[in-house]
Amino acid sequence: MPISALRPALAPTLILLIILLTACSASSNTPPPRQQQADQQAAQQQPQPAPTEQPQPPARQQQAAPTRQQEQQQAQQSAAPAQAEQQQIAQPSAPQTQQQTQQQVRQQTTQQQPQPDLPADLRVVVLFGDLTEVVYALGAGHVIVGRDASSIYPPEAELLPNLGFNQELSAEGVLSLEPTLVIGSPTAGPPEVLEQIRGAGVEVVIVEDLYTFDAPALKIRAIGTALGLEQRAETLIADVEARIDAVLRDVAARYAETQQRPSVLFLYVRRNAPQLVAGEDSPAAAMIEAAGGADAGTRSGIYGFAPLTPEAVVAADPDALLVMRRGVESLGGVESLRDVPGIAQTRAWRDRRVIVMDDLYLLGFGPRLPEALADLAAEIHRLTEE
Ligand code: HEM
Repeated sequence: MPISALRPALAPTLILLIILLTACSASSNTPPPRQQQADQQAAQQQPQPAPTEQPQPPARQQQAAPTRQQEQQQAQQSAAPAQAEQQQIAQPSAPQTQQQTQQQVRQQTTQQQPQPDLPADLRVVVLFGDLTEVVYALGAGHVIVGRDASSIYPPEAELLPNLGFNQELSAEGVLSLEPTLVIGSPTAGPPEVLEQIRGAGVEVVIVEDLYTFDAPALKIRAIGTALGLEQRAETLIADVEARIDAVLRDVAARYAETQQRPSVLFLYVRRNAPQLVAGEDSPAAAMIEAAGGADAGTRSGIYGFAPLTPEAVVAADPDALLVMRRGVESLGGVESLRDVPGIAQTRAWRDRRVIVMDDLYLLGFGPRLPEALADLAAEIHRLTEE
């Protein structure tokens, strides 16, 4: 067959061949979508060129397991939304500052000092939360063998045997722990129980309770002396006093700008405890006034802690309520305050102006007093801005 006769037959074949070749090369350059993703992932996993000439650690080191610190940070981060939610219910003004400061202080006080040299047979029972906190802050938490119900800080204190409410102690309960030293607040008792304890040969030290900014120094010094840790006590006092001075300067500067002093009523609410309001000469009034508020209890003629009655609450007519966290949580949370007689009738409740702070942090007048005062001042100041 002459070549010329083949040409018309070859032309379509050649065209078909070219189309097939083109299609083949195109399909080998374009992977299916899933492979595309895998390629992209692989490309992302490729070690990136080093920005500098510095030697890079091997890949395995880069992917090392998270350290304990990282794990704790991750745990805190994942816990954060839950905390924020809880905080919003408790405090409509979302007081992040308070939470942050408390965390910092907690870190400071749990990074305890090395254990001091103390007599091997020293066994201490501590009968109020602020005093327990001071013993720990002096680095002597390990000699405590028992505590009262209010001793809930630092958290490890709650692992110790609980002797109950410090005004209703039993001599048998205390003595069963074989203490060599009992440190208590002036409210510890009943008095005959303390006499029995003394009668059994146990030294009992009662630490004066003050609701002024001298209180932390006084308590730290008294407990330092009782434990033979005078030098440590003076170091701690100097630190706490410097922090108190700094906070008082800040609060004074803030209130120099505004004359507004929102009125705040402190409520003592707790399951298994009497419901009380606080007024003049109470630790709550001292904190509220120093933080730039006006103590609503004092204004309405309440002295010290008095029974919480609807009349007392309505007469006080506060701008805001102040409660302690564990106390209000033991009732079922802030919303349960509506069931406390009189509360639902207050403006403060209708506007949901409820400040919640940790119990001993707020009213302990111990080593964390400066930070507690700063946080309360921030909360009260926020009320002036709403
Ligand atoms: C400075 C003021 C006060 C502070 C900082 C304070 C703090 C505390 C704390 C932290 C607890 C332990 C709560 C718990 O385990 O969740 C507690 C328990 C208790 N408090 Fe207070 N408290 C104060 C004043 C009072 C007053 C004036 C009374 C009554 C007269 C009182 C009666 C009680 C009772 C009965 C308990 C035991 C409750 C129970 O066993 O469940 N507290 N307090």
